[in-house]
Amino acid sequence: MTDSLVAALRAVVGDAQVLTDADVLVTYENDWLNKYHGTARCVVRPGTVEETAAVVRACADAGAAIVPQGGNTGLVGGSVPRGGEVVLSTKRLTRLDPVDLSAMQVTVGAGVTIEALQRHARAAGVDFAVDWGARATATVGGAVSTNAGGSRVVRFGTMRAQVVGVQAVLADGSIVEQMHGLPKETAGPYLPAMFVGSEGTLGVVTAVRLKVVPWYRHTAAALVACESVADAVAMLPTLRSLSSLDAVELLMPEAVKVACDHLGIGTPLPVDFAGAFVMVDCAANDDPSQDLARLIGDRRGVMAIGPQRDQLYRIRDHITIAIGAKGTPVKLDVAVPVQRLAELLDEVHDLIAGIDGGELIVFGHLAEGNVHVNVLGAIDCAAEVTEFVLSTAIALGGTISAEHGIGIAKAHWLGRLKGDPTVAALRAVKHALDPQGIFNPGVLFPE
Ligand code: FAD
Ligand code: LAC
Ligand code: ZN
Repeated sequence: MTDSLVAALRAVVGDAQVLTDADVLVTYENDWLNKYHGTARCVVRPGTVEETAAVVRACADAGAAIVPQGGNTGLVGGSVPRGGEVVLSTKRLTRLDPVDLSAMQVTVGAGVTIEALQRHARAAGVDFAVDWGARATATVGGAVSTNAGGSRVVRFGTMRAQVVGVQAVLADGSIVEQMHGLPKETAGPYLPAMFVGSEGTLGVVTAVRLKVVPWYRHTAAALVACESVADAVAMLPTLRSLSSLDAVELLMPEAVKVACDHLGIGTPLPVDFAGAFVMVDCAANDDPSQDLARLIGDRRGVMAIGPQRDQLYRIRDHITIAIGAKGTPVKLDVAVPVQRLAELLDEVHDLIAGIDGGELIVFGHLAEGNVHVNVLGAIDCAAEVTEFVLSTAIALGGTISAEHGIGIAKAHWLGRLKGDPTVAALRAVKHALDPQGIFNPGVLFPE
């Protein structure tokens, strides 16, 4: 039997851009963690904003739900279908406008990858500020929709701080757009901000205007051994005084080990004697290695400059991939005020020590008090681990999602984090823009 919606979508984007073959759908139906799965009615890949609007209208007319999908590197289950939705892939929205060096801004399509954006910016002599390990696959639209963070937040802020304009398609097929990028305008609430962190629940982001930042070509990184997490936190005031500071990452010894094992290299420092490691990354117009060396002082550490820096930093970038290669972890992304980080990790450590076969691997973004708690061998008690880690983070004044989003994984936690009045306000916005609830049902708000 022919699906009339599929026929309508083919009329909009052409036969080749509506996928229904089960073998092809499978990559769109499973998430990066191989943890969240569902079946798609079809995958549709519009190539322009007008096609996107027509696709959304056709789905709305048919009462069909839509899951917007970029690079499908999301870690909270929001990018894959749950039960027969249309997956709207943004992969063909790859507009790359020239970099405007006088405004230090650029307009790009939602489907452009972070790596392609970085290359594009560098070809113009500047850089894009937000960076993380999935850069080759993750897209600008996904990064806006999850308010991605990554390792350079200490210097440049999260995705929210880069967005100066958004073009999006709403549930009725209308196109909203504020793309002038004016640094100064007070004319009502700022529409682009609404889409940052909305996780595909309010509309499809089709293009974004973003800030670019100076490209610091001289780089140096150091892996520094600390006695404990508290000792790592104590380094922060000194590190923050470095004008070239680009990233301050926390790597617990087991995180260094798992990444090095995965890469088939020895650990740069023996991992057993340290309580924690800090990976410090610096970038500047002149070689920052002397300043970095001075700040590290007589602590035990290794430093790498230029191309060697990239080798050292590969360890940091590969932790998530290395954990994924070992199994499916319980994976939590929490943040607490950084002075409470040691307390959080002590409590988590004690919990996991009581789980037979549980393997705890912690790493994250030290300056933001943001840690990724990964537990292998604990899928059977995932609910208990999740309850403990998230409630402890909230009790310490923190958050249950620092950068990965809420997705479907933590939707039923949103009320506990934000409180009922805030969730009601957010639901009212969702309902006003998407009364049929066609965009990403089950994401952010439990159904
Ligand atoms: P997807 O996974 O396709 O989608 C994510 C969410 O956004 C979904 O809810 C989806 O519906 C929605 N969405 C996607 N595109 C659009 C659009 N155009 N319009 C509306 N909604 C849309 N994240 C960090 O923040 N920091 C890190 O350091 C980090 N490291 C990672 C390392 C690895 C190895 C991996 C696999 C992931 C990592 N992530 C990290 C998570 C992930 O890369 C980010 O969440 C990223 O922003 C997702 O982008 P994406 O294009 O893959 O989006
Ligand atoms: C990272 C991802 C998991 O920091 O957020 O590597
Ligand atoms: Zn991270």
